[in-house]
Amino acid sequence: AMVHRHKFVLQDTPYTRLCSNKSILTVNGQFPGPPLYVTEGDTLVVDVINRATENVTLHWHGVKQPRYPWSDGPEYITQCPIRPGTRFSQKIVLSDEIGTLWWHAHSDWSRATVHGALIVYPKKRNDYPFPKPHAEVPIILGEWWRSDIQAVLTEFIRSGGDPNISDAFLINGQPGDLYPCSRSDTFKLRVDYGKRYLIRMINAVMNNIMFFRIANHNITVVGTDGAYTKPLKSDYIAISPGQTIDFLLEANQQPSHYYMASRVYVIAGNSDNTTTTAIVEYSGNYSIPSSPILPNLPDFNDTLASANFTGRFRSLVNEDHPIAVPLHVTKKLFFTLSINTNPCPLSVCNGPLGGRFRASVNNITFELPRIDILQAYYNRIRGIFGDDFPSKPPIRFNYTQDMVPQIYWTPDNGTEVRVLKYNSTVELVFQGTNVVGGIDHPMHLHGYSFYVVGWGFGNFNRSRDPLNYNLVDPPLRNTIAVPINGWTAIRFKANNPGVWLMHCHFERHISWGMEMAFIVKNGKSSDAKMLPPPPDMPQC
Ligand code: C2O
Ligand code: CU
Repeated sequence: AMVHRHKFVLQDTPYTRLCSNKSILTVNGQFPGPPLYVTEGDTLVVDVINRATENVTLHWHGVKQPRYPWSDGPEYITQCPIRPGTRFSQKIVLSDEIGTLWWHAHSDWSRATVHGALIVYPKKRNDYPFPKPHAEVPIILGEWWRSDIQAVLTEFIRSGGDPNISDAFLINGQPGDLYPCSRSDTFKLRVDYGKRYLIRMINAVMNNIMFFRIANHNITVVGTDGAYTKPLKSDYIAISPGQTIDFLLEANQQPSHYYMASRVYVIAGNSDNTTTTAIVEYSGNYSIPSSPILPNLPDFNDTLASANFTGRFRSLVNEDHPIAVPLHVTKKLFFTLSINTNPCPLSVCNGPLGGRFRASVNNITFELPRIDILQAYYNRIRGIFGDDFPSKPPIRFNYTQDMVPQIYWTPDNGTEVRVLKYNSTVELVFQGTNVVGGIDHPMHLHGYSFYVVGWGFGNFNRSRDPLNYNLVDPPLRNTIAVPINGWTAIRFKANNPGVWLMHCHFERHISWGMEMAFIVKNGKSSDAKMLPPPPDMPQC
């Protein structure tokens, strides 16, 4: 296995989009950020140098970092921020991840502009369990605000309401033909007729699940979240923030120009529904259409199109890729996911009932501690976090009824973790609720991939629903969208000691407190214990 060294300089860099200029936080001046390429089992050493004016941390989304949470990155969970003028050398240890992952900032809303692809090749190059592609192309879905992202965040926190929506969605950093001043920079995927392309798609959008489709072309999904899947044919994609989807595109249509397009999936509320485009451009001589054909995307509020697509994923299972879903569960957990409201400290807030929006897991709104939990745990610093999440027994009610009574709307606050024994086999059921209002929640767990063994709409039924679990070929993922007013069951083996954040990957929901952390204890043998911290851990 190789060690790759990179230098990531965080800096403010001028960029122009949608006819206007602004300065954005970048890595090495690039937006989207520099892609990283590694082979299964390699190690990355990234020297992060903060030459910007704000605190930053970097997270390697989907990398399990066995026994080494020190480089995982979430601010005040596994590290203190990297302050302006300081540096932190992060060691990123790959294990069994394969395919497409990504990296992004994990402090405030900096990930809007600080993100990039992390591509993991198989040990034998091109040794894919699917037909060999002629070329591989990363496609990152992103977002653009005309105003400064930290100003958007400040205003959002102040108002207590929903954040200002972005001014455009992006495909590889570009809004595309249908937005002002954007046509000439539209991303173009150049293809040759008869060839096959592996597209590595990453959803780096802040607050929305996205639909994506290419006009006249079907695609075949072959991987997700750093693991292979059984081939899955579809004419569109639904992808949550945090997720990656690898798919094959056959350039088998009449040579021409075709739009690929992306648009939000959103239940209600304000959102930019404009279609973002890029172009699949065949090589050769043909008369170029005045405008490429647009694909027909699912309707913006098509819940079934989103949930059913996600529900069709299956793990690839064969000798080289055995399945390891725990059959015997030693720890059963049930977590409700809710949008809540708190009273407003000012006279007027824009949240529900004139209050401030909050969000919670098991009715606890997570508050960031002042020293990171990992350091507090490792050095036995007391008073930083509580270790009996969710300290009170969860309140039971009809979670998904039409109007949840207002007595359930106000959450508790706290910094609580759940302690798991080494090697316990965990089943965790996420239950979405209709408190204040129902919405999908793309839940992401650090330090692990998990098997998605079941999902459904309505309230989870613990005698009936487990009978329908898929324990044969459930997909292995690190982020899963719990459907609106529904539930999702995951399983994993707690074999990675450390402190691991779990949260909704909608940025506004994290800001409202929809997160918690697991502490997975050390095992007995020496290779089942957390490794010591590096000497240059940032201090609070
Ligand atoms: Cu993609 Cu906690 O993050
Ligand atoms: Cu959420």
